[in-house]
Amino acid sequence: MSSPVPCPESGTAAFHRGLPGAAGAGELWCEGTRVAALAERFGTPLYVYSGRAIDERAERLRRAFGADATICYAVKANSNLTLLRRLAGHGLGFDVVSGGELQRLAIAGLATDHVVFAGVAKEPWEIAAAVAADILFFNVESEHELALLAAAGATAGRRLRVALRLNPDVEAGTHAYITTGKKQNKFGIGLGRAADVVRRIVAEPWLELAGYHVHLGSQLRSVAPYVDAFERVAAFADADPAHREGVTHYDLGGGFGISYGEGDELDVAAVAEALLPRLSARGWRPVLEPGRYLVGDAGVLVTRVLGTKGQSQPGSPAAAGGGGTEFVLVDAAMNDLVRPALYQAEHPIAPVAAPRAERRTVDVVGPVCETGDFLARGRQLPATVAGDLLAVFAAGAYGASMASNYNSRRRPAEVLVDGDRARLVRRRETFEQLTANEVEIDES
Ligand SMILES: Cc1ncc(COP(=O)(O)O)c(C=O)c1O
Repeated sequence: MSSPVPCPESGTAAFHRGLPGAAGAGELWCEGTRVAALAERFGTPLYVYSGRAIDERAERLRRAFGADATICYAVKANSNLTLLRRLAGHGLGFDVVSGGELQRLAIAGLATDHVVFAGVAKEPWEIAAAVAADILFFNVESEHELALLAAAGATAGRRLRVALRLNPDVEAGTHAYITTGKKQNKFGIGLGRAADVVRRIVAEPWLELAGYHVHLGSQLRSVAPYVDAFERVAAFADADPAHREGVTHYDLGGGFGISYGEGDELDVAAVAEALLPRLSARGWRPVLEPGRYLVGDAGVLVTRVLGTKGQSQPGSPAAAGGGGTEFVLVDAAMNDLVRPALYQAEHPIAPVAAPRAERRTVDVVGPVCETGDFLARGRQLPATVAGDLLAVFAAGAYGASMASNYNSRRRPAEVLVDGDRARLVRRRETFEQLTANEVEIDES
């Protein structure tokens, strides 16, 4: 059998182009399934996930970090129940940041003994739910939470395990909105305050200090910040025996970067190689919280071109559609994939059909009434016409999970592909669902 034609825009070989001379030649495929056929069957906009791509990433992380590592998938990246079950099938635990995410695990029927619960401000009901679920530990990053946790421990009659989230003031080299480990970010406890907080935890009969946690931000591509953060935490632990008494875990957070069509993804094996010996020298077990790395490349957002237009300005060069900026108007919008608008994220985009030779510089924009509603700006893409399908790559993470109903748009359907089998894992929302919770009051 000839090998598939790679798709350069994709970070995984699970998305590829059809072999010349065969059915679907040049078209985008997800594993053994034509993406165009999925759009016909399920409509657009549509999230398409490759099961194989998710499996491969989970296995790669396990190989790198070993059987002793607790790999907690960051549920926020994509909280679809089917994907959660799939990742649990690889022996992964979960990183949750809300009672709602914990509830998802319960609905999916998943074990919660390998769950860590992060977040700057947890509500008492969320803490109570996590205590009842007997999670691995709470990642504490705000001092006021200690009293809430101690009270919950007293009520449950057992000591609660906490990992202190430290803010090591390390430069992660990523977008400002997804940097979390600098002192100006709201996350974690600064190293200057940490000794006092450890003292409070140690003095508290219903709490036990089980570990330290850092999360530097998202989309990191180099090993150095992980090592730098660890060294700062280790120095803190070395400063006083009370800082390391009973500590069994080091949670290095998530943030493992993917390529988004440019540059290299983070070398996870190199992170493991750098950190595992340092951890084992202290008898600390690794915990990690990858989100994007596991599901980002595994998903594309498929959208249909509704039309094209150009904005003509006096004196601007005439181009097709009127000169100035040329727009490709598509049926997916910022409510379906907010990352370009929110983080200036650049997702690779390519036609689902065999790309035309002619290329044009365009803005790919959705129908939402916001100037910020774009999927790409000033991008060189093969020419498209109304009716064409486009695939927005690396959309498996922070795509569907951040989708909203803005402009009263229904959140898209989601499909999981395994080989030539495609299964709907989330139906497209209905208009009835959009208004279901609204209460019409009688004004008469
Ligand atoms: C505490 C924590 N852990 C893990 C993650 C996952 O990050 P990523 O998807 O970049 O791996 C996040 C993302 O915001 C986070 O806040």
